Amino acid sequence: MEIRTLKASEREQVLDLLDRWQMPDGWSGRDFFRRYMDLDPSYRDENFWVAEAGGRLACCVQIFPRALRVGSGVVPLGGIGSVFTDPEARSAGTASAVLRRAEEAMGERGMSLGMLFTGRIGFYERLGWHAWPLANALYIKRSDPPAPEPGLELGALDAPADLDAVKALHADYSAGRAGTVVRDAAGWEGSLRVAGNPDEDFRVARRDGDVVAYARFIALENHPIAAEFGRSADDVEALASLLAAGFAERGGAYGPAPADPELEAALAARGIEVRGMGDPNAMLRCLDAKGLCAAAGVDPVADESDADLLRRVLPPERILFWPSDRF
Ligand SMILES: CC(C)(COP(=O)(O)OP(=O)(O)OC[C@H]1O[C@@H](n2cnc3c(N)ncnc32)[C@H](O)[C@@H]1OP(=O)(O)O)[C@@H](O)C(=O)NCCC(=O)NCCS
Repeated sequence: MEIRTLKASEREQVLDLLDRWQMPDGWSGRDFFRRYMDLDPSYRDENFWVAEAGGRLACCVQIFPRALRVGSGVVPLGGIGSVFTDPEARSAGTASAVLRRAEEAMGERGMSLGMLFTGRIGFYERLGWHAWPLANALYIKRSDPPAPEPGLELGALDAPADLDAVKALHADYSAGRAGTVVRDAAGWEGSLRVAGNPDEDFRVARRDGDVVAYARFIALENHPIAAEFGRSADDVEALASLLAAGFAERGGAYGPAPADPELEAALAARGIEVRGMGDPNAMLRCLDAKGLCAAAGVDPVADESDADLLRRVLPPERILFWPSDRF
């Protein structure tokens, strides 16, 4: 069994392997995972680690590079996804070995932090990962929201015309919040192309013609998800109206809960209750404590465990990771 990165000539082969994964929402494994290959401009074969024996691919693990705001800095993060072993080759240590090799590669490339989402917490815990229930919430509709105030217009994103304003709101609203991803042009393109399932409902709020808030909604296994939102610093009412309308249409939603008491109050005034419920599928792993401290701008503490360091710089009750950056 050889563990190595994918060759360009093996792309269809790795999709054949992933096609054996039973995916929700009517996706075939091939079509679901092909999106990351064909639509995300940051896709690289070198990020796909595979186990190959006798010309057949038995297992794959994909690294999704991201830049995460932590402390006063930005930390290179390796997102882990597309973890799959051929059903006939399971329970032989293959995925564990491929993951370990991918983690080594991440460390070699300066990624001091790993993140993944899984329903198999125990499997990854045994490999050194920590369950990290991100600060999410259920947005519960208690009553119908009032009509938006005069002068505030709620509607669909007009792309590309609105995108510069949306990007500025994202940079501003997410900038002070630990766990958010810094998106460059390719990051935005990838997020806009693959965050939907298959599509997203991208709404904006305009005041006097200017985009002052935005919200992205998706559905996962029929569950409505608030995948991302943002607002200008002085217009919490616009975001609350936009979100309340979106939640009311869906009968509520699940999604990240930024520490934004003003927003919670404005949502409450519109009949939306915010009930904290951490994401049970999120996990983190510290790959290089010194590198993480340096990138995050925090001092290392002698004898601090990886879990304690992670809790210090990314407390789960405060870490905000938008599903639009998921992998
Ligand atoms: C999860 C998955 C990737 C594991 O792949 P795998 O190659 O069987 O993984 P491993 O062999 O390394 O480990 C699987 C189990 O076998 C055990 N194992 C490892 N080496 C072993 C060996 N030599 N003999 C017997 N058991 C072994 C592991 O401890 C592990 O136990 P656990 O499931 O109780 O944690 C595979 O089941 C899969 O593809 N599932 C569907 C997709 C999926 O769920 N992906 C992960 C979600 S992100």
